[in-house]
Amino acid sequence: LPIDSQSELRQGTVDPQLYESSPDCIKILRLDGTIKHLSPGGHVALELDRPDQLDDLSWPSLWPGSEQARVAQAVEEGRDGKRTQFLAFCPTAKNTPRWWDVVVTPMPGVETAVSGLLVVSRDVTELVRAREGLAQANARKDEFLAVLSHELRNPLSALAMAAKVLETLHGELPQVAKLSELIHRQVGHMSRLTEDLLDVARIARGEVHLRVEEFDLRDSVGAIAEQLKPALTAKNQRLRIALPANPVVLRGDRTRLTQVLGNLVGNASRYSSPASAIDVAIEADDEVATIRIVDHGQGIAPDLMPVLFDMYSQGQATPDRRASGVGLGLAIVKGLVELHGGTIRAESAGADQGSTFIVVLPRRFLTGDERPAASSVLA
Ligand SMILES: Nc1ncnc2c1ncn2[C@@H]1O[C@H](COP(=O)(O)OP(=O)(O)O)[C@@H](O)[C@H]1O
Ligand SMILES: [Mg+2]
Repeated sequence: LPIDSQSELRQGTVDPQLYESSPDCIKILRLDGTIKHLSPGGHVALELDRPDQLDDLSWPSLWPGSEQARVAQAVEEGRDGKRTQFLAFCPTAKNTPRWWDVVVTPMPGVETAVSGLLVVSRDVTELVRAREGLAQANARKDEFLAVLSHELRNPLSALAMAAKVLETLHGELPQVAKLSELIHRQVGHMSRLTEDLLDVARIARGEVHLRVEEFDLRDSVGAIAEQLKPALTAKNQRLRIALPANPVVLRGDRTRLTQVLGNLVGNASRYSSPASAIDVAIEADDEVATIRIVDHGQGIAPDLMPVLFDMYSQGQATPDRRASGVGLGLAIVKGLVELHGGTIRAESAGADQGSTFIVVLPRRFLTGDERPAASSVLA
């Protein structure tokens, strides 16, 4: 590099040694966006034949048409003293496809506030490819689970049917009665798992169709209390329910919201000790209904909190593995709540401190535009 260029770099806070040795594509642009210097790393990265090949060319014009507006904007913002960073696609001089992480920084001048622009473009092609590969593998996994759970449905209902027939034919034999009961129970368990897998796949692909109706949310609590009675009784747990005196009428999918409640109360029971109490309370104002489910059980470890609502995430295995699911429940719950334009969060003071789940649902059903952007737990 000529001496005057070196001092120019230094003055522009660019370290000449870094400029000479970095594998990144480093450019110094004039304020009009033309290329003044291109680093040796840049010659290599861009697969140029001659080091001066790009000299004095307009930098934005070297990009594919689809990227030019964004690149030109970065130049403009740089002139205004703003630093920008973006990810963009641009093939090399030999037409090798490349993704670039581009940072454009204004260089302070002596006479003017900005004397030029420093552009550092890093080749992130491998990273982008790896990310695409991961996304594809993830999509294939979801697809596989969806297909698998769908395929399991028919054989499972056939098994349930066969067990029932067996019972009507030979139900008087104690062994047959016992075996058909066992098949029933296990098939029921497998069906719930496959339904959960299907739900996750549907939510991930935006294929859940809500059947929106007006209903009293208090009825859902009643239905869940009834549905979970056997499990609660088995653990000698008490459900303490606090409901408003007036109906909490809501527009939403009654079945799905009852499923949400069932999952949360089911977890509360599963993850707390026998003879403990579980509190379910609803509060409502004109805009929202708030459901609070409080248990006094094992609590949620701080390291589980950030991934609590993610697919397949589970805390420490319960002693009774059969009693627990596969970590899909809360992912489904969150997906369904967000489809209703609601929010869910969990609180726990830590191990053995119990857990609180708080669901906030808008009382009128929000249209797509009104809904807060769903988070990407299921993506
Ligand atoms: N009420 C709760 N108390 C303590 N831990 C909970 C509670 N609810 C959920 N968890 C933790 O969150 C994990 C994920 O819950 P979930 O998605 O319902 O999956 P699963 O119940 O199938 O394990 C559970 O494995 C458990 O560790
Ligand atoms: Mg669960």
